[in-house]
Amino acid sequence: MPEPLKTDTVTGLLAEIADVGRDRQRGGYSRPVFSAAERDLTGWFTAHAERRGLDVHTDPNGILWASMGDMSAGDCVVTGSHLDSVPGGGSFDGPLGICSALVAVDRLRERGIAPGRPLAIAVFPEEEGSRFGVACLGSRLLTGAIDPDRARSLRDEDGDTLAEVAAASGLDPRFFGQDDGTLAAMGTFLELHVEQGRGLVDLARPVGIARSILGHGRWRIAIGGQGNHAGSTLMADRRDPMVTAARIVVAVREAALTYPDARATVGRLTPIPGGTNVIASSVDLWLDVRHPQDEIAAAVVERIATEAGRMATEEGCTVQVTEESLSGTVHFPAGLRDRLARIMPESPLLDTGAGHDAGVMSARVESAMLFVRNPTGVSHSPEEHVEADDAEAGSIALADALQALLTRG
Ligand code: GLV
Ligand code: MN
Ligand code: MN
Repeated sequence: MPEPLKTDTVTGLLAEIADVGRDRQRGGYSRPVFSAAERDLTGWFTAHAERRGLDVHTDPNGILWASMGDMSAGDCVVTGSHLDSVPGGGSFDGPLGICSALVAVDRLRERGIAPGRPLAIAVFPEEEGSRFGVACLGSRLLTGAIDPDRARSLRDEDGDTLAEVAAASGLDPRFFGQDDGTLAAMGTFLELHVEQGRGLVDLARPVGIARSILGHGRWRIAIGGQGNHAGSTLMADRRDPMVTAARIVVAVREAALTYPDARATVGRLTPIPGGTNVIASSVDLWLDVRHPQDEIAAAVVERIATEAGRMATEEGCTVQVTEESLSGTVHFPAGLRDRLARIMPESPLLDTGAGHDAGVMSARVESAMLFVRNPTGVSHSPEEHVEADDAEAGSIALADALQALLTRG
């Protein structure tokens, strides 16, 4: 006899995947898209979804869907998040939304809710952009926010293209791109996510509702110099791109400090070829800039690009700045946000500095987000945390919101 369905707990589900993709070197989790770890996680999710009687399929853009009712009938209520991680990330960024979605489905079943609309859980691939550089790649492909040719040619650190890696994972990259059928099927998207700052801690509340997502973008700064010998090359004879890179890193901080509310980060810098006794021949430096006003973010980047050009010239190097991705500030629609606020009147409205698939989806589908308190206020780090009681409070808030949406209550 099949085991009777029980309501899982969010922390119980997270515990089931606690050993998947642990990064023994950096600490935390490294779960890049299309890695063995991410495949284990999507397999684990599929088993849980099927046990709940959901129909599971992967769409042409690699988004995993688990649906109850006929999605193609339209007006589908979709919840979900992602399972990939940054390198050395925490265990909640992404998986909290997926585990909460599964538990919310359990709670709706327990409450005997007869949905008046189809319901689906979506698992978006490459939300972090940690393998191919572009954040929210799955939702960008789905909504047409990235050109599929450009997406196919994105390369990972090994030089493999997204097209090659996706094909090896069973997708046909020729079918990447805007999916109007799926977009038409979606009525509402609601993503639950760990809060990545201190908003809820400071307000002493377990759950919040998103008001806005800070505009953000990524740029690649390629610095060219002359590879040479560390011992035989006189200091005066060098064209060392690492020196330029170091100066640019400091200039990035100074540029951000010039504009209130700006955030600018260099979190990744790759010297090529990267040897202790080798003057690098080039350096790849990745820049992340965020600001609530898109024109100010542009001014910060402009200033950094100008400084980088000057610093490269002074070192006899070259520099090339390429925009990799850019998302304007997203203000979630007031109608849905206010509706959520009526369902959970104790939950404050929050602005977030972190990017999310819900931000990309909101260009095409009515979208909203819930946040769950993170007592450390730290994220993209193993220190990210959610207390068990708060995780359950999040899943109850999600179930309440889904119930209202599904029953038009
Ligand atoms: C993703 O979490 C981002 O904000 O970069
Ligand atoms: Mn996330
Ligand atoms: Mn993240």
